[in-house]
Amino acid sequence: MSLERLLASIPEGSDDAALARQIQPDRLPQHVAIIMDGNGRWAEQRHLPRVEGHRAGIQSVREVVETSARLGLEVLTLYAFSIENWKRPAAEVSVLMTLLRRYLRSELDTLIEHGIRFRVIGRADGLPTEVLEELREAEARTAVHRGLQFNIALNYGGRAEIVDAVKAVLAARVDPATLDEDRFSQWLYTAGQPDPDLLIRTSGEMRISNFLLWQIAYAEIYVTGTLWPDFRRRHLLDAILAYQKRDRRYGGIAPVVAQSTP
Ligand code: IPE
Ligand code: IPE
Ligand code: MG
Repeated sequence: MSLERLLASIPEGSDDAALARQIQPDRLPQHVAIIMDGNGRWAEQRHLPRVEGHRAGIQSVREVVETSARLGLEVLTLYAFSIENWKRPAAEVSVLMTLLRRYLRSELDTLIEHGIRFRVIGRADGLPTEVLEELREAEARTAVHRGLQFNIALNYGGRAEIVDAVKAVLAARVDPATLDEDRFSQWLYTAGQPDPDLLIRTSGEMRISNFLLWQIAYAEIYVTGTLWPDFRRRHLLDAILAYQKRDRRYGGIAPVVAQSTP
C-alpha cells in the first residue's frame, strides 16, 4: 500500500521508480535517523559562503520528509543542530535558526496535508524564544496526526539526553528495583518511539557526533559520500535498499533464510 503511495508521486519509467519498486514494503525500517552533514563542504566546493550550503540543504529535508511520509515510515529523525554546534560563529548559528523557522513556516501546511506529527528533541534552554515559539506551534498544530512522526533534533546531545533522563528518574523517585532498559527509555526524548533501525550519515564522515547514543544500540549504519544538499529521494531509497540486504543479528546467529518459491 505505502509503496503505491510513493510510486504515485514518482514519474513512471524514471530511475527513482525503478529503485522504489525494488523496496520490500514488509521489511521497511520503522525509524530512520539521519545525520545531515556536508553543507559547508557543498558550499566551499562552489566558492560560496557556508550558509549557502545550509540554505540548499532545505530542499533535501523537504524531499526526505515527503518520501518518508509517502513510504509509510513510522519515525524520521533529522539531526539539525547539536549542542556542540554552538561552537560555530554566531552568524552561522543565527542563519541556521532563521532557516529552521522559515522551513517550518513554509512547510507546516505540507506537514499537515501529509498527516505528519512534528516534534523537536533536544534541550529547550538556550534556544532563541522566537524559534521556540515557532517550534511549539508546529508541534501543537500537528499533535493529533497519526502519520509519520517527524523529529528534529535541535540543541541536541546524546549524552545530555541521558543525563536529563537520569535527573528526571531521580526527581520522580523511581524505585531502582523497577528500573530496566525499557522503562529507562521512557524517560528519553524519544519515549514511546521505536529505536532507529537505520542511521544514515551524509558526507562520508564515520562518526556518531553525539547523536541518539542510547537509541542506536542496534541501528544499521549507512554512510554515504553524498553531501547533504545533494541528498535526494533516490539516495534515501538507496539507503533503505542497502538496509534491506543487511543481516541483523542482535548478538545472535544468522537466521536460516528460507528459499522463496516462485
Ligand atoms: C551539517 O553541515 C549542518 C550542521 C551541522 C548544522 P556542516 O555545516 O557540518 O557541513 P560541513 O561538515 O562543514 O561540510
Ligand atoms: C553533526 O554534524 C551535527 C549535525 C548534523 C547537526 P557536525 O558537522 O557538527 O559533526 P562533526 O563536528 O563533524 O563531528
Ligand atoms: Mg559537519
